[in-house]
Amino acid sequence: MTALTITTAPIAGQKPGTSGLRKKTPVFMGAHYLENFVQSIFDAIGGAAGKTFVLGGDGRYFNDRAAQTILKMAAANGAARVIIGQNAVLSTPAASHLIRLNKTDGGIIMSASHNPGGPEEDFGVKFNMPNGGPAPEAVTEAMYQRTTELTEYRISDAADIDLGAIGDTMLDGMAVSVVDSVTDYAALMETLFDFNAIRAMFASGFTMRFDAMCAVTGPYATEILENRLGAAKGTVTHGTPLPDFGGMHPDPNPTWAHELMDEMFGANAPDFGAASDGDGDRNMVVGRNTYVSPSDSLAVLAANAHLAPGYARGLAGVARSMPTSAAADRVADALGIDKFETPTGWKFFGNLLDAGKATLCGEESFGTGSDHVREKDGLWAVLLWLNILAVRQQSVAEIMAEHFAKFGRNYYSRHDFEAIETDRADAMMAELRGRLAGLKGQKIEGMEIAGADDFAYTDPIDGSVSLKQGVRILFIDGSRIVLRLSGTGTEGATLRVYLERYTPGPDGLDHDPQEALAPVIRAAHSLAKIMEHTGRTEPNVIT
Ligand code: G1P
Ligand code: ZN
Repeated sequence: MTALTITTAPIAGQKPGTSGLRKKTPVFMGAHYLENFVQSIFDAIGGAAGKTFVLGGDGRYFNDRAAQTILKMAAANGAARVIIGQNAVLSTPAASHLIRLNKTDGGIIMSASHNPGGPEEDFGVKFNMPNGGPAPEAVTEAMYQRTTELTEYRISDAADIDLGAIGDTMLDGMAVSVVDSVTDYAALMETLFDFNAIRAMFASGFTMRFDAMCAVTGPYATEILENRLGAAKGTVTHGTPLPDFGGMHPDPNPTWAHELMDEMFGANAPDFGAASDGDGDRNMVVGRNTYVSPSDSLAVLAANAHLAPGYARGLAGVARSMPTSAAADRVADALGIDKFETPTGWKFFGNLLDAGKATLCGEESFGTGSDHVREKDGLWAVLLWLNILAVRQQSVAEIMAEHFAKFGRNYYSRHDFEAIETDRADAMMAELRGRLAGLKGQKIEGMEIAGADDFAYTDPIDGSVSLKQGVRILFIDGSRIVLRLSGTGTEGATLRVYLERYTPGPDGLDHDPQEALAPVIRAAHSLAKIMEHTGRTEPNVIT
């Protein structure tokens, strides 16, 4: 067995986005594509020699072969050890946990998250730091720079190793530890939540549906919910991970998790429903006849986290991404704890979590998590909800109604316009940016604009500055419109329009969000000239 040095040339476009490098699978499978990027990762972090990494992915098409390539490259680059999930499968939060638990030098996660998988769909690779969190912008930028100048990569010519067998083996001088994908993660969850209380709730007849969407959380949810917590067999549906997610779009939102939505709003609905995404970091939570928006979920979790043993001491602070609604801010104010507003993307929470400034974090895009790992964590959010339900002995609908009555309601929705021509989307954003300064004082739909800007963030811990993180149009009545282009798509541009309107109550707390937001939606279309620029009048996905 030898470490080979292969001559290569830079491949254009290997720039990580909001969450790693994502491309169509055939692109990733193209000559040298994966290899160039992995070598650039190793080079950008000061080499792999003597280091220990975690490796795993969401099991999508090409996951297995990519893992063999990455192992052989780690060996040829002198890594000491790679800890890899069985069959190269790890949910993103489980990978983050293993990186931290084993005090490793970081990890490589193979995933395109909630994007569909398969030979013609999406694949992705990202690097997580020794703290378990996604590489910050400075590091991903260094990786990208490296991809533009790379002339060679190193790879062992050893044979593939058996990733189905748990245990330790050697690969060309590098130790490979194949570990059970679920065990350590499940043990961590047992330290955070009152499993006895949740078990008692299931034993007393509480019913639940967890839709794993044929993606990575199936085995995690089955082990934790059915085996350890005693939920009825069959609680977990679509529980077998498939390379193409069974053709499902593994994104837990009302559009893509419509089977779960139908059940939760149908006759004989279970007490509680949840779904997770391709790599297990997202979650959607639904009560019987009650949809909980991710922004509201974050707020409810913040207000009730102390009911779970892992958070009984209270929270240091709550952080949310800028487009996420301000519902969690109201809870933070009531609790007298710090609140933070960061750019979109989990990587921006890492410093706050490491510094002990924030305990809970969340994004409107179905992401919620805490300082237990450095990724958002779908199953964790579901377990925290279950712990709260077990203690409060109320339905989701009752908990939501009490929450709104106490804090008021931030009506919220996100409208996505997908696969727009990139040039047209860029032109729309550029024109809007050019008009921001003049918007203050203008009246639209009976609402006066208080100000408009392009969100910029200075990290309170390391002082790093991130510019152009989304256009904000703020109204005097507290309503808000945010527009930004997605950084995770693989086809054209996706425009995301985030809409928010606050109602203090006690009246008007139970409207349909789309109706409550109607004037804000109309204002967004007219201010951004969405139709003129993109030809679109309706979004593809509403969450
Ligand atoms: C999207 C979400 C963002 C999330 C990211 C990764 O990014 O909006 O909140 O962190 O996926 O899951 P976007 O496509 O908007 O750049
Ligand atoms: Zn994900």
